Amino acid sequence: MAIRLGDTAPDFIAETTHGRISFHKWLGDSWGVLFSHPKDFTPVCTTELGYVAAIKPEFDRRNVKVIGLSVDSVESHEKWEGDIAETQGTAVNFPMIGDPDRNVSNLYDMIHPNANDTLTVRSVFVIGPDKKVKLMITYPASTGRNFDEILRVIDSLQLTSKFKVATPANWKDGQDVIIGSSVSDEDAKKLFPQGWKTVKPYLRTLPQPK
Ligand code: BEZ
Repeated sequence: MAIRLGDTAPDFIAETTHGRISFHKWLGDSWGVLFSHPKDFTPVCTTELGYVAAIKPEFDRRNVKVIGLSVDSVESHEKWEGDIAETQGTAVNFPMIGDPDRNVSNLYDMIHPNANDTLTVRSVFVIGPDKKVKLMITYPASTGRNFDEILRVIDSLQLTSKFKVATPANWKDGQDVIIGSSVSDEDAKKLFPQGWKTVKPYLRTLPQPK
């Protein structure tokens, strides 16, 4: 069955470049990003893996564990990692799942047969510390992902999990936010005593709470 937002992320045991993992145990209390790429030793994927390695400190800072996957084997990932370090300037510093039997790919519906019947598409799942799926994005093989956008969404998810706010279009950490539409003005007075700006009765903005 298809995974939907709010579902518990399916648990699994898999071989990775960092040894065998039990996914939920590996996540522990952290947030997680599970992402698939179509194939090892391919150009777009090489740039993606190098970029994720380069910004890993940004994931660490947000208490997010990152893990990659393709239907190639762990041995193939390990050989490819040499090329990534050589060409992208950063060694891969997070585990990569080898999924030649497609256990995890099928569990997360990462193979879209009308796009390609054997390779995984570029799926991204953000998983919260409660193991629930918070975000899903799917890109085609020909388009490399914007991983800065994934960090931006994680900032929004982490903020909105703490405060009854929402974030507007193209919001970035530090910018004004929106009071959630489920919050009445009466409740908002208690939650945000510093006040807010009413643009429309349904559009109330305030500086990002800390
Ligand atoms: C790539 O990473 O460049 C790629 C992989 C599979 C299909 C198309 C492109």
